[in-house]
Amino acid sequence: MSAPAAPLLEVRDVELRIGGLHILRGVTFDVREHEFFTVIGPNGAGKTSLLNVLSRIYRPTTGSVAFDGRSLLDVSRTGLADLGIARTFQNLALFEHMDVMDNVVLGRQRLMRSGVLTGAVWWGRAHREETEARQACEPLIDLLGLGAFLNRPIRDLPYGIKKRIELARALAVEPRLLLLDEPAAGMNDEETDELAGWILTAKQELGLTVVMIEHDMGMVTRLGDRALVLDFGTVVTIEAPRAAIADPRVIRAYLGDETAAADPTATGNVALDIPGDRARKAKRA
Ligand SMILES: Nc1ncnc2c1ncn2[C@@H]1O[C@H](COP(=O)(O)OP(=O)(O)OP(=O)(O)O)[C@@H](O)[C@H]1O
Ligand SMILES: [Mg+2]
Repeated sequence: MSAPAAPLLEVRDVELRIGGLHILRGVTFDVREHEFFTVIGPNGAGKTSLLNVLSRIYRPTTGSVAFDGRSLLDVSRTGLADLGIARTFQNLALFEHMDVMDNVVLGRQRLMRSGVLTGAVWWGRAHREETEARQACEPLIDLLGLGAFLNRPIRDLPYGIKKRIELARALAVEPRLLLLDEPAAGMNDEETDELAGWILTAKQELGLTVVMIEHDMGMVTRLGDRALVLDFGTVVTIEAPRAAIADPRVIRAYLGDETAAADPTATGNVALDIPGDRARKAKRA
């Protein structure tokens, strides 16, 4: 019998201190290749900080992070794309005045030597590379059903489409590992369902490994193979999403009181309905 494959991502004993704050405490986990790994936890638990460690925005105070057997801490933030790691951000980060194609093509910058959208340079290699980059993005545009919006400025598009464009831009990096920070933030239920479908399509078609932070428990249980629950920078548990959100320790972390657990049947078998998430949705609605 052959030995199981080494994990794609190995996080060991990560501590993160910034100023006087102890943000991550002994965080340890593995993500297997092709896994859909989710990270949940109350507001301020340290989820984005963890993603910032994985994407080299924050350097852990101690601990290690390895990707495909190689220490990520020796790789620069810009070098991550070369390794095959891409991310999206909690707040939408698109160039509103540019069109859809230009925003997606920006994601390919690491694959181009001349840079994109140089404007004045329309001859030689830069022109050729830009043309190739646009052609290379076309299958991605098709995969994510964005063809109808191609030449529209971002600012004119509905929020749900913008989030899908952000996903396309991250995928233009041609990543092996995709890091998503609350892709459904600010979306209504319909938009969330739709985006979940696109993420799943992309994962399956492109053979991705995904680490996704998300407050929407319906999305976490639908997409996730496992959920890591963070609370005050500490890992509470790592288990199947449905088991995790029914875990009394997790319910306590969210609500501070185990007895306040919602009726599991009330939210489509999702035991945990997070007040904070409802508040976010209400804010945008
Ligand atoms: N650069 C920083 N400087 C100071 N404090 C920080 C910094 N980054 C994160 N923190 C603090 O670390 C804690 C965790 O923040 P983080 O953004 O990681 O939480 P989160 O789990 O992503 O929360 P949310 O669900 O609201 O997005 C918070 O108390 C936050 O204020
Ligand atoms: Mg966050």
